[in-house]
Amino acid sequence: MNEFALFTGTANPALAGAVAQRLGITLGTVQIERFPDGEVHVQLLKSVRHKQVFILQPTAPPVDTHLIELLAFVDACRRADAAEIIAVLPYYGYGRSDRRNGREPIAASMVATCLQAVGVDHLLLVDPHTPQIEGFFDLPVDSLSATGLLCEAMRPHLPDSTVVVAPDAGRVKMATDYARRLGRPVIVLHKERVSGTETHVTHVVGDVQDRSCLLVDDMISTGGTMAESVQALLEAKARPDIWVAATHGLLLGEARRKLSRKEVREIYVTDTAAVPYRDWPALQIVSVAPLIASAIERFVTDGSLHDLS
Ligand code: R5P
Repeated sequence: MNEFALFTGTANPALAGAVAQRLGITLGTVQIERFPDGEVHVQLLKSVRHKQVFILQPTAPPVDTHLIELLAFVDACRRADAAEIIAVLPYYGYGRSDRRNGREPIAASMVATCLQAVGVDHLLLVDPHTPQIEGFFDLPVDSLSATGLLCEAMRPHLPDSTVVVAPDAGRVKMATDYARRLGRPVIVLHKERVSGTETHVTHVVGDVQDRSCLLVDDMISTGGTMAESVQALLEAKARPDIWVAATHGLLLGEARRKLSRKEVREIYVTDTAAVPYRDWPALQIVSVAPLIASAIERFVTDGSLHDLS
C-alpha cells in the first residue's frame, strides 16, 4: 500500500470524515481560514512530502468559494512536495457549462484548466453532468456512479408498477442504467427550454397511465426540472405516486417547496454535496462514503476501479 493522506476542504467535511472512518484513518490536519478581505488561506499542519494526497472537496455552492479553496489546497500540497495529488470532487461545479451557446465560456473546461495548472495529477468524480467533462482534462479521470447505491436504497420501497423516467433526452443513459438495475421500463420526457432558468415538458414518450414513476436526474438544483416533470407525469395520468432520485441534492432556493406535494412520495439524493436539510421527512440521504472509500483503497493498492459502481 502506498503512503497516503486524506484531507478535506470546507465544502463537505462530514463526507470526508465518513470516508476516513471507513478507511480506518484520521483526516490530515489543516488550517483553513479567511482573511478579512475574503481571501482564503490554507496551511497544511502535517507533512505530505512524497505521499499520495487525496483532497476531498465537492465544488458545490458557493461554487467559486469552494473552487478557489481547492486550488489553494492543491497548490499548498504541490509546493510541499506531495508525490501525487488526487482531487476528489464528488460534485463537479460548472459541469453544466460544457458547450458554447453564443458568446459564452465553457466553464467546465475552464475549471479543468485551472485544476491542471495548479498541479492536480488525477481526478475522482461522482456522476459528472456529462461524460465529456473527462475530455477537458489531459490527465486521468475516474468517474464513479452513485446509481447502484441509490437503487439498493430504493429497491425495497418501489411499487411493482414503477417505470423509470428520464426528465430529458440528456438523462436517458442514466435512466437506462437505473431501469436495468431495477428491472423496469424507461420513459422519456421531451423538454424545451423557455429561458435560461425555465423549461417546459412538451411530450411524454411512453405510457405512464396508472403507473408509479421514478424520476431520475444527475442533480436537483432549484427543483424546477423535477417539479415540472412531476406535473407532466400527472397530466399524462401517472399514478399520484412519484419517486424522485438524483445523485447531487443541492436543493437550493425553492426546491423544498416545489417538491413538497403529496404525490411525491420520497426524494432520494446522496451526500456528494452537503445536503441543506435534515428535517424533511420525504428526503432520504444515501451516503457515497462507501463508494469513495473503496475507490481510495483501490487507488493506494494500485487496484482497478473498473467494476466499482
Ligand atoms: C440539466 O441538464 C440537469 O441535468 C438538471 O436537470 C438540472 O440542472 C436541475 O436543475 P433544477 O433543479 O434547477 O431544475
